[in-house]
Amino acid sequence: RKDAPILGIESSCDETAAAILAPDGQILAELVLSQIADHAAFGGVVPEIAARAHLTALDAMVKDALRQAGVGFADLAAIAATAGPGLIGGLLVGTGYAKGAALAAGVPYLAINHLEAHALTARLPSLAAGPVEFPYLLLLLSGGHSQCLAVEGVGKYRLLGATLDDAVGEAFDKTAKLLGLPYPGGPALEALAREGNAKALPLPRPLLHREGCDFSFSGLKTAIAQLLAAEPSGALPRARAADIAASFQASVTDILGDRLNHALAMLPAANAVIVAGGVAANQAIRARLSEVAGEAGKLLIAPPLRLCTDNAVMVAWAAIEHLRQGDLSAFNAPCKPRWPL
Ligand code: KG4
Ligand code: ZN
Repeated sequence: RKDAPILGIESSCDETAAAILAPDGQILAELVLSQIADHAAFGGVVPEIAARAHLTALDAMVKDALRQAGVGFADLAAIAATAGPGLIGGLLVGTGYAKGAALAAGVPYLAINHLEAHALTARLPSLAAGPVEFPYLLLLLSGGHSQCLAVEGVGKYRLLGATLDDAVGEAFDKTAKLLGLPYPGGPALEALAREGNAKALPLPRPLLHREGCDFSFSGLKTAIAQLLAAEPSGALPRARAADIAASFQASVTDILGDRLNHALAMLPAANAVIVAGGVAANQAIRARLSEVAGEAGKLLIAPPLRLCTDNAVMVAWAAIEHLRQGDLSAFNAPCKPRWPL
């Protein structure tokens, strides 16, 4: 059937998600379950707990999605799942489920690269800004990834730069932890930063003005750890913590703005700059990126947050883009915990 919908499944980290899209990209069902509460006590994602939680949630979630879309497995044009990069346990749960369902229903299977799914989200026809045409720049800023991609076509990605150490969200989370904020620390750190003075502390800005657009954040985290070690013992006064948070955020913002500036020079033909990943929620960062893009005459587009963070709509959409090219995956396609674009 030409109008048969596509099921997408995401389970590469700590979100279990299922979505069903019409072949034109219209979203028919969209479900996400965050495991944050399962991992909070450990201060980070525990792979074994994540895999088991995906296994517990996925089947009921997919069936809910099918019910919402008013279709059965056999009505689908394809079933797609994130096959990497990510945590192997979760990847095996999602792809195993997708392959089993696809085999049983006699529909094709697609193994989707999670980074590619983030990269192609900007082309969803239902986005307010309208689908973005190739080529464009993608800044993927999440807890697991910090990279800058030239997106030149489906399957045509050029890595312009990536983090040499921590991902930017990871840097936020680790700094937040040092400041005694709850996990995940990004949103809490941003809130605290609003009370502080961004110029209070001279923090390093690794790689600033360096050629290319690689990122580095671990030196920043170390600087803060050293700074805190030198504080008088006892509880850190809130005003001091706020100054540290604000200074940290200012440093990250400067780094990202500078890196985007370099990336723009590396892809002058870019039709837009897309920012995705959980860190795209940060207002200070978003404002700076928007300013830098604007100076180069480009529009900064941030998909709605629910499509910026891990979700299955992007997986189904990437599958649609591949189906349009006639791509399918074999049923023995492996999971790849490491799978660069
Ligand atoms: O894309 P995402 O939801 O998934 C993973 O990478 O797993 O990104 C989550 C990351 C976390 O590190 C979180 O602290 C960070 O995004 N984050 C933020 C903000 N909201 C989420 N970082 C800075 N400011 C925020 N407002
Ligand atoms: Zn992701």
